[in-house]
Amino acid sequence: MPYSPIGKSIQVLDTPALLVDLDKMENNIQKMAARCRDSGLHWRPHAKGHKTPAIAHKQLRAGAIGITCAKLGEAEVLADAGISDILIANQVVGREKVARLVNLRRRADVMVAVDDPVHIRAISDAATDVGVNVRVLIEVDVGMKRCGVPPGDPTLALARQTHAAPGVVFAGIMGYEGHAMSLDDAAKEAACRKAVGELSKTRNLIEDAGLCVGIVSAGGTGTLAFTPDFPGITEIQAGGGIFMDTYYRDGLHVRGLEHALSVLTTVISRAAPDRAVADAGRKTTSSHPSLPEVKDRTDVVVTGLAAEHALLSLTNSDIEIGDKIQFISGYSDMTVFLHDQIYGTRNDRVEVVWDILARGKKQ
Ligand SMILES: Cc1ncc(COP(=O)(O)O)c(C=O)c1O
Repeated sequence: MPYSPIGKSIQVLDTPALLVDLDKMENNIQKMAARCRDSGLHWRPHAKGHKTPAIAHKQLRAGAIGITCAKLGEAEVLADAGISDILIANQVVGREKVARLVNLRRRADVMVAVDDPVHIRAISDAATDVGVNVRVLIEVDVGMKRCGVPPGDPTLALARQTHAAPGVVFAGIMGYEGHAMSLDDAAKEAACRKAVGELSKTRNLIEDAGLCVGIVSAGGTGTLAFTPDFPGITEIQAGGGIFMDTYYRDGLHVRGLEHALSVLTTVISRAAPDRAVADAGRKTTSSHPSLPEVKDRTDVVVTGLAAEHALLSLTNSDIEIGDKIQFISGYSDMTVFLHDQIYGTRNDRVEVVWDILARGKKQ
């Protein structure tokens, strides 16, 4: 029998190892699902952070209507894991990718963002060739100035073109208020109100023109406290909060969710009385500026990361070489994709080991 850590203490795991506290993650999933449900909205959580179909299935079991992802390759992995209602919240461009998209449509009811007639023509041509219909959402720029057509008439014009194109189904609109995520509460509330207002007005304009806007999608973990309260949207994309990290807490002011994701590390050096080093650096914990935090210890603080080293500052600490400590993730979105597997734990015992199946699916 091959070695299995299942049922054993996390202390037996070799390091660095990525852990998720299942009780905490499941609580976060329930809270995020309830936040959407209580606001009368559907939840379509973004999976770009976890990249793991088993976690997507937990979100669906908690009431999510479908899954959002960033990449076509992620959508293919989710589809092959039995998930059908998938939004790729990005533009899919290039002959090969569009061919994959329309072929994916045979095994999943995939939906994709567009913001230009070029996208619509390419999908329409490929979809009619293969004999499928692909749902599209028109991405509206609600102030982030990333992708997206301006709200109002330009979106209406694109909606009309989408509606007229064979092989393409106009399913609705989406707008990501990413510019609001890091604002303080008062400014964030105002920015969310404005963003949702733009989406709502645009939806009314399109419906007045006789087209049905089935979906109005918005939201991220950083705006979950506000965006669902404003009328006009139908679903929320917030996803990463299921892991909750120090960036969500300190950078995006997210509250009410528990830190679930950590990297288990080993102390490899105690080179000075007030300094130690652990075996998890940027290549394991993330290269994001938000530093990880040591779980359940006040005597050890992460002060810096090199590629493969974490510098630890010690205060009256009895920590020794070989000790294992957990780093609460600095930014989970930039942590998970560095690992092959994630250990699901309960009460510090390993319950399950998941392959991070959409890891590396960048195309
Ligand atoms: C299109 C889109 N939707 C939603 C999100 C929010 O993701 P999360 O809730 O994981 O922070 C993002 C984050 O980058 C995004 O790009």
